[in-house]
Amino acid sequence: MSEHSSLSNLLKEERRFTPPAELAANANVTAAAYEQAAADRLSFWAEQAKRLSWETAPTQTLDWSNAPFAKWFADGKLNVAYNCVDRHVENGLGDRVAIHFEGETGDSRSLTYADLQREVSKAANALIELGVRTGDRVAVYMPMIPETVIAMLACARLGAPHSVVFGGFSADALATRIQDADARVVITADGGYRRGKPSALKPAVDEALTKPGTENVRNVLVVRRTGQDVAWTEGRDVWWHDTVERQSEQHTPEAFDAEHPLFILYTSGTTGKPKGILHTTGGYLTQVAYTHHAVFDLKPETDVFWCTADVGWVTGHSYIAYGPLANGATEVLYEGTPDTPHQGRWWEIVQKYGVTILYTAPTAIRACMKWGDDIPAKFDLSSLRVLGSVGEPINPEAWMWYRKHIGADAAPIVDTWWQTETGAMMLSPLPGVTATKPGSAQVPLPGIAATVVDDDAHEVPDGAGGYLVLTEPWPSMLRTIWGDDQRYLDTYWSRFEGKYFAGDGAKKDEDGDIWLLGRVDDVMLVSGHNISTTEVESALVSHPKVAEAAVVGATDPQTTQAICAFVILRGTASADDEGLVDELRAHVAQQLGPIAKPKRIMPVAELPKTRSGKIMRRLLRDVAENRDLGDVSTLTDSSVMDLIQAKLPGASSED
Ligand code: WT7
Repeated sequence: MSEHSSLSNLLKEERRFTPPAELAANANVTAAAYEQAAADRLSFWAEQAKRLSWETAPTQTLDWSNAPFAKWFADGKLNVAYNCVDRHVENGLGDRVAIHFEGETGDSRSLTYADLQREVSKAANALIELGVRTGDRVAVYMPMIPETVIAMLACARLGAPHSVVFGGFSADALATRIQDADARVVITADGGYRRGKPSALKPAVDEALTKPGTENVRNVLVVRRTGQDVAWTEGRDVWWHDTVERQSEQHTPEAFDAEHPLFILYTSGTTGKPKGILHTTGGYLTQVAYTHHAVFDLKPETDVFWCTADVGWVTGHSYIAYGPLANGATEVLYEGTPDTPHQGRWWEIVQKYGVTILYTAPTAIRACMKWGDDIPAKFDLSSLRVLGSVGEPINPEAWMWYRKHIGADAAPIVDTWWQTETGAMMLSPLPGVTATKPGSAQVPLPGIAATVVDDDAHEVPDGAGGYLVLTEPWPSMLRTIWGDDQRYLDTYWSRFEGKYFAGDGAKKDEDGDIWLLGRVDDVMLVSGHNISTTEVESALVSHPKVAEAAVVGATDPQTTQAICAFVILRGTASADDEGLVDELRAHVAQQLGPIAKPKRIMPVAELPKTRSGKIMRRLLRDVAENRDLGDVSTLTDSSVMDLIQAKLPGASSED
């Protein structure tokens, strides 16, 4: 959130970088795409859906009759694995490399599309042998190796939604996700290589499967990667090399409805239980394929694409597994960390494979900056022609470093804003069109409708800040939260009526370009420290006198934001108890540290909630900042706010 201050300085500078002339002249997508999409958004997406091979072509584009539960291309049928693999082989591209795998220990192998077709077919046949049927969920807990992508594609081929759990997560996190999705099979490995050493995965699976709610896991399919010893449960555990390798290389893919579930991917919410974000088939694949083509200007015959994300995150799903392969791209898959065995490892890989398009995260760019300019300078990076960024706002300094030291001051940088929930990129410059600004994701992609609104859902004028919202449905949008439609409504669609609220703060500059400012709800900026509202709430609720707490950051002249807490006391505690507020502040300080001590604590009888029970922080922030309340019509009981406001003067004397 420290971007706020640098942003205002930067906006004055108005640095722009126009696309290289040659790239612009040959770009896959030109400015005309914006006009086409604006003229008829749905026809635009129907047109993009033709990038895919449908067994039954859709005649419907969007069914929004049960909004916000969307159906895209609902009467179409297709198979995702066929689209990502088989059709390229049928088109004569079987010898094209799909994946250049680079292991951390220096081992490497390249799989062509024909190889991939054989491997995915065998894996699908193995899953069938293990009893996996269409609709069954399969958990995938893997290192970054080709078998991970093969496993995902095999699941997709069978219409068995996968739930990939990041290999860095603990046994508990894995167990929660297995339980929630009610997975039937877990695909894992003995381990993977991390920082030059084998790092085990199988023990976490073994531990997770001792927890209640995981009993329906029949089999664990284990890839041997590191060769380390693993505990073995006979009858449950099977080796990939025993079970997959002996299968037939033939498997005929079946077409599924466009709305058939493709995968569940968990993101941690502001409340304890992770949200299983559900993505489906036709719309998802359409948008990942389109954005990969448009935003990276992918020329599949000549480009070598590399997305450095882990496949356990949505970036890896959309821009390692599905987008690039749907487009018939050649891509790099790297197992390890950027500094193993040396800090030039990434640049060595770029040089080795002649990577032309690199997609990475600001945090990695900042690490490389810290290691020094001389490191990338030792390698030939001249193949790079488009650079991407994703995951958080990229600070202008890192953007400039990326451009200068990695992109030879020429390659356009596409700062892509999106989320697990959006499935694919939503805001981004186009490399052959947009004059880029360091630090800004700038504009919604063609076919995407996004804007910035204020507390009352009014679009803010250029130059003003507010909340980023998506105002029209898009093909790769999440369909719901797995098993919890109500939470889907509450989390994304309740704050601003009829609009998807992404949870991010944003600002429009004088040109109307959008700058992302970080998550609004979860993080407060207090004297230069980021403090999560959730953590302070948890600390308050851990005190025996507190039943419920809602924490917001209110603008404060000294500390940027001040922590304001609204608490509902437990039965026996009294709001008139003189020492109570001090006691609670001390408790939070003791739990989280003095910086997290709320400036104000207001005991209240009720908290403002939506009809479904979600706390409306927006109103609490208004109260804490002494603003007039906006629309309170979605409140269960609007008198709650009167009661809370009446408390305010007394509470502010607690400072
Ligand atoms: C959140 C989504 C999208 C895949 C990786 C993260 C932040 C993402 C940007 C960007 C500013 C960004 C947002 C968003 N974010 N990309 N280019 N500029 N912020 O997926 O874990 O679902 O996180 O990441 O805050 O809401 P995720």
